[in-house]
Amino acid sequence: MLCLTRPTDPRWVAAALDDVDAILVDHAHCEMKAATNALALAARAPGDAESVRVLVDLAKEELSHFEIVLAELGRRGLSLGPPPVDAYAAGLRTIAHDTPRPPRLANGALVDRMLVAALIEARSCERFQLLVAGLASAGEAELARLYDDLLASEARHYRTFVDLAVRAAGGDEARVRERLSALAAAEGELCARLGTGATIHG
Ligand SMILES: [Fe+2]
Ligand SMILES: [Fe+2]
Repeated sequence: MLCLTRPTDPRWVAAALDDVDAILVDHAHCEMKAATNALALAARAPGDAESVRVLVDLAKEELSHFEIVLAELGRRGLSLGPPPVDAYAAGLRTIAHDTPRPPRLANGALVDRMLVAALIEARSCERFQLLVAGLASAGEAELARLYDDLLASEARHYRTFVDLAVRAAGGDEARVRERLSALAAAEGELCARLGTGATIHG
Protein backbone atom coordinates (compact mmCIF):
# COMPACT_ATOMS: atom_id res chain seq x y z
CA MET A 1 0.00 0.00 0.00
CA LEU A 2 1.32 3.48 -0.92
CA CYS A 3 5.12 3.13 -0.60
CA LEU A 4 5.18 0.57 2.22
CA THR A 5 7.45 -2.43 1.73
CA ARG A 6 6.01 -4.66 4.48
CA PRO A 7 2.50 -5.12 5.84
CA THR A 8 1.78 -4.67 9.54
CA ASP A 9 2.16 -7.81 11.65
CA PRO A 10 -1.37 -9.23 12.25
CA ARG A 11 -0.50 -9.48 15.96
CA TRP A 12 -0.57 -5.67 16.08
CA VAL A 13 -4.28 -5.66 15.20
CA ALA A 14 -5.00 -8.10 18.04
CA ALA A 15 -2.99 -5.94 20.50
CA ALA A 16 -4.75 -2.78 19.32
CA LEU A 17 -8.25 -4.29 19.64
CA ASP A 18 -7.32 -5.58 23.06
CA ASP A 19 -6.58 -2.06 24.32
CA VAL A 20 -8.60 0.41 22.25
CA ASP A 21 -8.31 3.05 25.00
CA ALA A 22 -4.50 3.02 24.75
CA ILE A 23 -4.72 3.26 20.95
CA LEU A 24 -7.01 6.30 21.19
CA VAL A 25 -4.75 8.11 23.67
CA ASP A 26 -1.69 7.45 21.50
CA HIS A 27 -3.62 8.41 18.39
CA ALA A 28 -4.59 11.78 19.88
CA HIS A 29 -0.92 12.51 20.52
CA CYS A 30 -0.04 11.43 16.96
CA GLU A 31 -2.52 13.93 15.51
CA MET A 32 -1.18 16.74 17.70
CA LYS A 33 2.40 15.87 16.69
CA ALA A 34 1.36 15.82 13.03
CA ALA A 35 -0.03 19.36 13.40
CA THR A 36 3.04 20.73 15.18
CA ASN A 37 5.39 18.97 12.74
CA ALA A 38 3.59 20.52 9.76
CA LEU A 39 4.03 23.99 11.31
CA ALA A 40 7.69 23.29 12.12
CA LEU A 41 8.24 22.33 8.47
CA ALA A 42 6.45 25.50 7.30
CA ALA A 43 8.94 27.50 9.36
CA ARG A 44 11.78 25.72 7.51
CA ALA A 45 10.49 26.63 4.06
CA PRO A 46 9.88 30.38 4.43
CA GLY A 47 11.04 31.16 0.86
CA ASP A 48 8.41 28.95 -0.73
CA ALA A 49 4.97 30.49 -0.17
CA GLU A 50 3.15 27.56 -1.78
CA SER A 51 4.80 25.00 0.53
CA VAL A 52 4.02 27.19 3.55
CA ARG A 53 0.36 27.43 2.50
CA VAL A 54 0.08 23.67 1.97
CA LEU A 55 1.74 22.91 5.32
CA VAL A 56 -0.42 25.37 7.25
CA ASP A 57 -3.57 23.85 5.70
CA LEU A 58 -2.29 20.41 6.64
CA ALA A 59 -1.61 21.55 10.22
CA LYS A 60 -5.20 22.83 10.49
CA GLU A 61 -6.54 19.51 9.23
CA GLU A 62 -4.38 17.52 11.68
CA LEU A 63 -5.60 19.77 14.48
CA SER A 64 -9.19 18.98 13.48
CA HIS A 65 -8.31 15.26 13.64
CA PHE A 66 -6.84 15.86 17.10
CA GLU A 67 -10.12 17.46 18.20
CA ILE A 68 -12.13 14.51 16.85
CA VAL A 69 -10.00 11.99 18.77
CA LEU A 70 -9.97 14.19 21.88
CA ALA A 71 -13.79 14.26 21.82
CA GLU A 72 -13.77 10.46 21.61
CA LEU A 73 -11.44 10.32 24.64
CA GLY A 74 -13.91 12.56 26.50
CA ARG A 75 -16.85 10.31 25.60
CA ARG A 76 -14.95 7.37 27.04
CA GLY A 77 -13.86 9.21 30.19
CA LEU A 78 -10.19 9.05 29.18
CA SER A 79 -7.67 11.84 29.64
CA LEU A 80 -4.90 12.71 27.22
CA GLY A 81 -2.02 12.32 29.66
CA PRO A 82 1.64 12.77 28.77
CA PRO A 83 2.77 11.67 25.28
CA PRO A 84 3.86 8.01 25.12
CA VAL A 85 7.43 7.33 23.95
CA ASP A 86 7.38 7.31 20.15
CA ALA A 87 10.02 4.72 19.26
CA TYR A 88 8.74 4.55 15.69
CA ALA A 89 9.23 8.24 14.87
CA ALA A 90 12.60 8.24 16.63
CA GLY A 91 13.58 5.12 14.67
CA LEU A 92 12.64 6.79 11.39
CA ARG A 93 14.75 9.83 12.18
CA THR A 94 17.72 7.55 12.94
CA ILE A 95 17.16 5.71 9.65
CA ALA A 96 17.13 8.99 7.72
CA HIS A 97 20.34 10.03 9.45
CA ASP A 98 22.12 6.70 8.87
CA THR A 99 21.01 5.94 5.29
CA PRO A 100 23.34 7.65 2.77
CA ARG A 101 21.47 10.09 0.50
CA PRO A 102 21.65 9.91 -3.29
CA PRO A 103 24.51 12.14 -4.49
CA ARG A 104 23.43 15.65 -5.54
CA LEU A 105 20.05 15.49 -3.80
CA ALA A 106 19.32 19.18 -3.09
CA ASN A 107 18.08 20.27 0.35
CA GLY A 108 18.62 16.75 1.69
CA ALA A 109 17.77 17.47 5.34
CA LEU A 110 14.43 19.10 4.48
CA VAL A 111 13.64 16.42 1.89
CA ASP A 112 14.25 13.77 4.55
CA ARG A 113 11.90 15.45 7.00
CA MET A 114 9.18 15.55 4.34
CA LEU A 115 9.75 11.88 3.46
CA VAL A 116 9.78 10.75 7.10
CA ALA A 117 6.43 12.56 7.48
CA ALA A 118 5.19 10.84 4.29
CA LEU A 119 6.14 7.41 5.67
CA ILE A 120 4.36 8.12 8.98
CA GLU A 121 1.22 9.08 7.01
CA ALA A 122 1.47 5.94 4.87
CA ARG A 123 1.83 3.64 7.87
CA SER A 124 -0.98 5.43 9.73
CA CYS A 125 -3.23 4.98 6.73
CA GLU A 126 -2.43 1.25 6.50
CA ARG A 127 -3.11 0.78 10.21
CA PHE A 128 -6.34 2.78 10.18
CA GLN A 129 -7.55 0.44 7.46
CA LEU A 130 -6.73 -2.58 9.64
CA LEU A 131 -8.49 -0.92 12.59
CA VAL A 132 -11.62 -0.26 10.52
CA ALA A 133 -11.94 -3.96 9.69
CA GLY A 134 -11.02 -5.13 13.21
CA LEU A 135 -13.27 -2.67 15.04
CA ALA A 136 -16.22 -3.45 12.77
CA SER A 137 -15.97 -7.16 13.52
CA ALA A 138 -15.51 -6.42 17.26
CA GLY A 139 -18.87 -4.55 17.31
CA GLU A 140 -17.27 -1.06 17.61
CA ALA A 141 -19.14 0.31 14.60
CA GLU A 142 -18.88 3.99 15.57
CA LEU A 143 -15.17 3.86 16.17
CA ALA A 144 -14.72 1.94 12.91
CA ARG A 145 -16.50 4.84 11.17
CA LEU A 146 -14.19 7.37 12.83
CA TYR A 147 -11.10 5.56 11.48
CA ASP A 148 -12.72 5.10 8.09
CA ASP A 149 -13.29 8.88 7.90
CA LEU A 150 -9.67 9.61 8.79
CA LEU A 151 -7.81 7.16 6.61
CA ALA A 152 -8.53 8.90 3.29
CA SER A 153 -6.97 12.10 4.68
CA GLU A 154 -3.83 10.28 5.73
CA ALA A 155 -3.43 8.76 2.25
CA ARG A 156 -3.78 12.27 0.81
CA HIS A 157 -1.23 13.62 3.30
CA TYR A 158 1.24 10.94 2.18
CA ARG A 159 1.02 12.26 -1.38
CA THR A 160 1.23 15.88 -0.16
CA PHE A 161 4.49 15.20 1.69
CA VAL A 162 6.04 13.41 -1.29
CA ASP A 163 5.09 16.40 -3.50
CA LEU A 164 6.57 18.79 -0.92
CA ALA A 165 9.79 16.74 -0.86
CA VAL A 166 10.03 17.03 -4.65
CA ARG A 167 9.51 20.82 -4.40
CA ALA A 168 12.16 21.05 -1.68
CA ALA A 169 14.55 19.13 -3.95
CA GLY A 170 14.01 21.66 -6.75
CA GLY A 171 11.76 19.32 -8.75
CA ASP A 172 14.23 16.42 -8.77
CA GLU A 173 11.58 13.70 -8.60
CA ALA A 174 13.91 10.86 -9.61
CA ARG A 175 16.29 11.41 -6.68
CA VAL A 176 13.40 11.94 -4.24
CA ARG A 177 11.81 8.65 -5.37
CA GLU A 178 15.17 6.90 -5.00
CA ARG A 179 15.48 8.32 -1.48
CA LEU A 180 11.90 7.36 -0.61
CA SER A 181 12.51 3.76 -1.74
CA ALA A 182 15.58 3.45 0.48
CA LEU A 183 13.80 4.94 3.51
CA ALA A 184 10.67 2.83 2.90
CA ALA A 185 12.72 -0.38 2.85
CA ALA A 186 14.27 0.55 6.21
CA GLU A 187 10.84 1.59 7.55
CA GLY A 188 9.53 -1.89 6.74
CA GLU A 189 12.29 -3.45 8.83
CA LEU A 190 11.67 -0.99 11.68
CA CYS A 191 7.96 -1.74 11.62
CA ALA A 192 8.61 -5.49 11.72
CA ARG A 193 10.85 -4.94 14.76
CA LEU A 194 8.40 -2.76 16.69
CA GLY A 195 5.02 -3.67 15.40
CA THR A 196 2.95 -5.35 18.12
CA GLY A 197 2.31 -2.81 20.91
CA ALA A 198 -1.02 -1.03 21.54
CA THR A 199 0.10 2.26 19.98
CA ILE A 200 -0.67 3.55 16.49
CA HIS A 201 2.81 2.74 15.24
CA GLY A 202 3.56 -0.23 17.52
FE1 LIG B 1 -4.36 13.12 10.86
FE1 LIG C 1 -2.00 13.11 8.43
